[in-house]
Amino acid sequence: MSSGSRLVTIAGPGGIGKSRLALQVAAEALDGAGDGVWLVELAPVAEPELVARTVAAVLQVREEPGRLILDTLVDAVGDRHLLVVLDNAEHVLGAVAKLADAMMRCCLRAYLLVTSREPLGTSGEHVFRVPPLAGPPADLAAPGRLAAFESVQLFTERAPAGARTWSATPSRPASKRPPPPAEC
Ligand SMILES: Nc1ncnc2c1ncn2[C@@H]1O[C@H](COP(=O)(O)OP(=O)(O)OP(=O)(O)O)[C@@H](O)[C@H]1O
Ligand SMILES: [Mg+2]
Repeated sequence: MSSGSRLVTIAGPGGIGKSRLALQVAAEALDGAGDGVWLVELAPVAEPELVARTVAAVLQVREEPGRLILDTLVDAVGDRHLLVVLDNAEHVLGAVAKLADAMMRCCLRAYLLVTSREPLGTSGEHVFRVPPLAGPPADLAAPGRLAAFESVQLFTERAPAGARTWSATPSRPASKRPPPPAEC
């Protein structure tokens, strides 16, 4: 948002930390957005038609009979100064792009932060690609230095949830490990 754009998409492959980053940005924006920071979790939204309705529900905008929910939503947001985080949007990109387009045109003090594996592709979108955590080179000579890499630190932190014993250093010195099978 420091890019000057009111529509920012955090893009990158699965698990790289897009949602985590968006939540961090949202937390830091809490003091600045007078009408609030709103988190819309899109992962469980199966149908594109439900995107605007889901956003409206989170923003507590009531549907009006005989009127498109997107129109009602845009009117209700009006000139409110808010940040809406649309998290995990990749499976409903078209509907999110349409909503973003309408909000950027009509709600001039609204900010949208989208996380998605792919960008929306709309005009005015600023795409921030999350860089991967630093990892060790394939030919790292000293396994003891593994723990210095961010990716290894994260793996080491989380691995115990899936495996009882994990260590970033070999449990036995290389000289005492059995030789690999001949075909390797
Ligand atoms: N830089 C990081 N430091 C610490 N933890 C991280 C970092 N990046 C990702 N994680 C952790 O990795 C996991 C996946 O992160 P996250 O859900 O943010 O990824 P994502 O890019 O949104 O994935 P998806 O595309 O599946 O939605 C989370 O548990 C998150 O806390
Ligand atoms: Mg995510």
